[in-house]
Amino acid sequence: MKKKDLITPLDFSVEELDQLFDLADRIRLNPERFAHSCDGRKMATCFYEPSTRTRLSHETAMLNLGGRTMGFPDAGVSSATKGETVADTARVISCFADIMVIRHPKEGAAAVAAQYATIPVINAGDGGHQHPTQTLTDLSTIRSLKGRLFDFTIGLCGDLKFGRTVHSLINALVRYPNVHFVFISPPELKVPDYITDMLDEKGISYEECIRIEDAISRLDILYMTRIQKERFFNEEDYVRLANFYILNEEKLSLAKPDCYVLHPLPRVNEISVDVDSDPRAAYFRQVQYGVYVRMALILTLLGIDVS
Ligand code: NCD
Repeated sequence: MKKKDLITPLDFSVEELDQLFDLADRIRLNPERFAHSCDGRKMATCFYEPSTRTRLSHETAMLNLGGRTMGFPDAGVSSATKGETVADTARVISCFADIMVIRHPKEGAAAVAAQYATIPVINAGDGGHQHPTQTLTDLSTIRSLKGRLFDFTIGLCGDLKFGRTVHSLINALVRYPNVHFVFISPPELKVPDYITDMLDEKGISYEECIRIEDAISRLDILYMTRIQKERFFNEEDYVRLANFYILNEEKLSLAKPDCYVLHPLPRVNEISVDVDSDPRAAYFRQVQYGVYVRMALILTLLGIDVS
């Protein structure tokens, strides 16, 4: 049987995603039942770019399943400093582990790893391109909070140019009926043309605006993102845009009572801490959903039967 990887959210069909989210729900309701599902299995986390949540979330997921983890948290302590290619690293890791998680600053690096590895590969972010496990987290959070993944209006706010979580999420959401997008960004950080072209081609409705206040009252989900400092070419541009958005209680008071606020985290200052205690602030719950969905993903990619 051909091994399965997760490189873009589109690697799973909508039906496969439904099964994955159903499994994540089963795990959430009865985690003990899965506590030994990965006994004896090993996961390697290969991170060439900084991360707190994504790496630890994968590791937590594997530990919760009874498996073990190993890896490196930054490129500086790996053989990449000696000039080893991702392809070779992927071949080597395949001799050590049962499943590999990779984050890399170069777009396409995870796809290369998947091509050369003989074990399933999970893309934990490749440059400004894709971040599929964050997307699984976002979709499963929306499904749990709203009870559906169709018929809603989502506002995506912040750095829509460089934010890979945004690109991945849009890619995934276009497969569900009647999702309307509102892109909220400064003109310099608009969503890339290839995405709006794709939406035009598919006939999917979207609008673009600059101020949160102009859109918030119509939203069912508000997905906030930070300005991606590390992807800017010069500091001056970053400083000018850094505080462009600050969601506070005053602005949130214009939103519907069931408009949930999501954020992939880390937050810088685009959501003021006074919002944290609002019942609509769902970004920390989102982190927890991320662990369950990654547990479901590991089980699925390893082909472990938990029926
Ligand atoms: C995101 C990422 O790495 O792209 N973080 C995450 O994995 N939760 C978002 C970000 O860094 O802004």
